[in-house]
Amino acid sequence: MSAESARTIALPSGEEIAALGQGTWYLGEDPARREQEIAALRLGVDLGMTVVDTAEMYGDGAAEELVGEALRGRREEVFLVSKVLPGHADRKGTVAACEGSLRRLRAERLDLYLLHWRGGWPLEETLAGFTDLIEAEKIRYWGVSNLDVADMVELTALPGGDAVAVDQVLYNLSRRGIEWDLLPWCRETGVTAMAYSPIEQGRLLKVEALGAVAQALGATPTQVALAWVLEQGVAAIPRSGSPDHVRENRGAADLHLPAEALDALDEAFPPPSGPTPLEML
Ligand SMILES: NC(=O)c1ccc[n+]([C@@H]2O[C@H](COP(=O)([O-])OP(=O)(O)OC[C@H]3O[C@@H](n4cnc5c(N)ncnc54)[C@H](OP(=O)(O)O)[C@@H]3O)[C@@H](O)[C@H]2O)c1
Repeated sequence: MSAESARTIALPSGEEIAALGQGTWYLGEDPARREQEIAALRLGVDLGMTVVDTAEMYGDGAAEELVGEALRGRREEVFLVSKVLPGHADRKGTVAACEGSLRRLRAERLDLYLLHWRGGWPLEETLAGFTDLIEAEKIRYWGVSNLDVADMVELTALPGGDAVAVDQVLYNLSRRGIEWDLLPWCRETGVTAMAYSPIEQGRLLKVEALGAVAQALGATPTQVALAWVLEQGVAAIPRSGSPDHVRENRGAADLHLPAEALDALDEAFPPPSGPTPLEML
């Protein structure tokens, strides 16, 4: 399991990023777990899970501070992602929020900055803030999160809106609604889809059918659930504060699911049979 063998996924620019990254929601909130969480994040980077996803919302900045500490001296190895809260997402607020994130992350630049979800500010305002940040070289790419097809169509019709790089959405075996319309739209337009909560915050792991597929493959349920997301051409950012779990999760990037496994998973977790509004956690 070397970093070199990691699967990648292309951004619209053609730049390749690790398809399997790391989330950070709820990390940095418990002092007793801090050292282990830092070790887990650093191990993930060692193993090639170099996309690190955080947000100003997580622990009111505590997750960003943890990431800043974990990545000290390693910033260049990582594709760093953070998010602006919708309430901050007017033009000036977006710039100010990003500067706050950069301070907590001890970074000069984010690789990707996302609107966390759509709120009251017009998308034009957020887009203007993102454009200011690109010009100031404080972010390299911008994107969105929790935007369904209609919102994406509206966004990409705005001047400069077609520069959106990523839509980060809830996607896993038990949440397949985006396969009906959003995922085909992303494939058609080249916008990269990134799955959050790819193991449904651990709830998926209790499903018997997943366990059976995993056992037949000599893999773990987590590895199968993550490998399935990657098979769909979607990036995944599982979160773990445990080095053992990170090592296990990394194994998913080397696991290719044969047709029989995919069929068994379709049976247990059927794809959508009609339009399904985008779900959020
Ligand atoms: N854009 C958005 O609105 C949004 C929303 C939700 C999440 N996110 C992002 O997506 C990331 C991932 O989603 P998530 O944190 O909601 O859920 P998740 O990654 O689906 O699940 C995280 C949970 O699974 C456990 N876990 C991880 N690996 C495991 C393993 N190998 N075996 C057993 N348990 C394991 C973790 O516990 P341990 O720490 O004990 O391993 C944790 O409790 C977030 O951290 C965040 O960065 C974004």
